[in-house]
Amino acid sequence: MADEKVTVTVLARMKKEGKRIVALTAYDFPFARMVDESGVDMILVGDSVGMVVCGETSTLPVTMDQMIYHTKIVSRGVKRAMLVGDMPFGSYQISPAQAVDNAARFLKEAGAAAVKLEGGAAVADTIRAISAAGIPVQAHIGLTPQSIHAMGGYKVQRQEDRLLSDARCVQEAGAFSVVLEGIPAPIAEKITAELTIPTIGIGAGVKCDGQILVLHDLLGLNEGHVPKFVKKYGNLAKAAREALAGYVGEVREEKFPGPEHSFGK
Ligand code: KIV
Repeated sequence: MADEKVTVTVLARMKKEGKRIVALTAYDFPFARMVDESGVDMILVGDSVGMVVCGETSTLPVTMDQMIYHTKIVSRGVKRAMLVGDMPFGSYQISPAQAVDNAARFLKEAGAAAVKLEGGAAVADTIRAISAAGIPVQAHIGLTPQSIHAMGGYKVQRQEDRLLSDARCVQEAGAFSVVLEGIPAPIAEKITAELTIPTIGIGAGVKCDGQILVLHDLLGLNEGHVPKFVKKYGNLAKAAREALAGYVGEVREEKFPGPEHSFGK
């Protein structure tokens, strides 16, 4: 059914039936509504908010309060897609108890249906604890931006054995899905074929069960560096600059407001 609410069971069924899962990020109400109405299956309020909305140079400074705020406003625009909140750096690494506490905030305060966190085998106990609390967890392996310093930069991850073992570990720990970021397409294909949970790729080739992109990259709103795996489906930055130039010019030339935008006596 086209307007069936997307849940973990719907996503599991889509994998079984070989139907591609479409995911995107969103950070605010107007875009959340447009993204949801476009028919995507999953909306992630990514910690990428720190970079694409707040102008940070990495995702590391993003806080729980920021994530709760953005997830809450996105949730007001989402009716059909499954809403996933991204756990920021430092919000799940201290202990499984800390992770459950923070994961619960996404559901209690912000309207999310699941959380995402970065890491493979190293976070298996954390995934287990959050899942045991009844909170669906999406794992994220490969290029994990919160580990930028440990990885020595945003680099494609190519260690096949480690990637396969991370993928198996997060599935075994109870994750309902796993994001595969920045890994060679043949490795992502192999992981996807082996796992029973859906894989969502970003920079991981076309053979994942689904794909995700950062909304601002796809729309061409991000005027900075865009990675090789991004395809721009629009150029909203150009459109916004043209609109702004039009306004500035018309105010300076006394063309705006015209009679149609003014009130008579
Ligand atoms: O933070 C984010 O937007 C993400 C996606 C790119 C998967 O983690």
